[in-house]
Amino acid sequence: MGIETSCDETAAAVVENGVLIHSNVISSQVEIHARYGGVVPEVASRQHILQIVPVVTLALEEAGVTWSDLEGIAVTKGPGLAGALLVGVNMAKALALGHGIPLVGVNHLEGHVYANWLVDAGQDVQEPEFPCLCLIASGGHTDLVLMKGHGDYTLLGRTRDDAAGEAFDKVARVMGLGYPGGPVIERVARQGTSPHPFPRAWLRGTDDFSFSGLKTAVIRAARDLGIVAEGEGARIDPAQPPAQVADVAAGFQEAVVDVLVEKTCHAARRWEVGQVLLSGGVAANGSLRSAMARRSPVPLHCPPPILCTDNAAMIAACGYRHLLKGEEEDWDMEVYPNLPMAPAVA
Ligand code: KG4
Ligand code: ZN
Repeated sequence: MGIETSCDETAAAVVENGVLIHSNVISSQVEIHARYGGVVPEVASRQHILQIVPVVTLALEEAGVTWSDLEGIAVTKGPGLAGALLVGVNMAKALALGHGIPLVGVNHLEGHVYANWLVDAGQDVQEPEFPCLCLIASGGHTDLVLMKGHGDYTLLGRTRDDAAGEAFDKVARVMGLGYPGGPVIERVARQGTSPHPFPRAWLRGTDDFSFSGLKTAVIRAARDLGIVAEGEGARIDPAQPPAQVADVAAGFQEAVVDVLVEKTCHAARRWEVGQVLLSGGVAANGSLRSAMARRSPVPLHCPPPILCTDNAAMIAACGYRHLLKGEEEDWDMEVYPNLPMAPAVA
């Protein structure tokens, strides 16, 4: 079983052998946080407390298993919101202790990578080919990681300021498109006819990213065009955005996708990897997925969009690998709000 409560989804899932999904329950708080234009940590913790027992119960029920069928309970221990993480970790500890099941702590970012191993019943497992290059692009992180084997990671590059998802969220808020920004920007961008030109921060000679300059350029352009909607909440109907909003969204998305794809492909060539793996909420973006598929020098694997955004099946899949190596947690396991993905390249 996997349990995930690091941000604004309360999730539990049952996965067999780290690959086969038997259940994947996700209770999203997004509508509650949308009122405030972003995740409110205290509200998130409270919602996790309300949701965790029904979510775990449903995950067991939908999988058609009982506690005695489970070989491990994996839970996100970080990075994430401290109060939110505590709900999942304490639930997992209580269940593991009460039912005599091994407890495994999972790094949320490593969990995102393992979404690439998951399949539904009837689908073939496609083992990614090592070494592979993982782009983890979420609301809090944009990491480029070299993975030489299970559990063997080197951080090649990361964002120096905003994460890609964070830029989507901020740009959407400024233009009155609401929260979360990624899906709504993607939808509005599709209606753009002449994408607004925006600069790209290449940071040549490094595998790092930077999105705050782009964010500022977008906010400035929006202001110049008179389409800034300061304040919280959605003001624009994404089904019928003004043409200028659609063009700014399209130009912004194009710039983010261009940088993510170009830098990932460059690193893939340089490190001579066998495959590129996408993950994290931003990997749900259709434009990113198709551009990466077109331009990657090696085969690309991306999980279906529902497994790119936060879920517990990926935590179970990752926890399974730790369990295989005997990496169980003690009962004094803590939460680690700033847990990094991997050691940086020397
Ligand atoms: O991985 P995730 O669900 O949570 C974190 O670990 O942060 O990622 C959430 C982020 C948000 O910033 C959201 O706006 C972005 O992923 N996102 C997208 C899309 N769907 C979600 N960004 C671009 N296009 C999307 N379709
Ligand atoms: Zn995530």
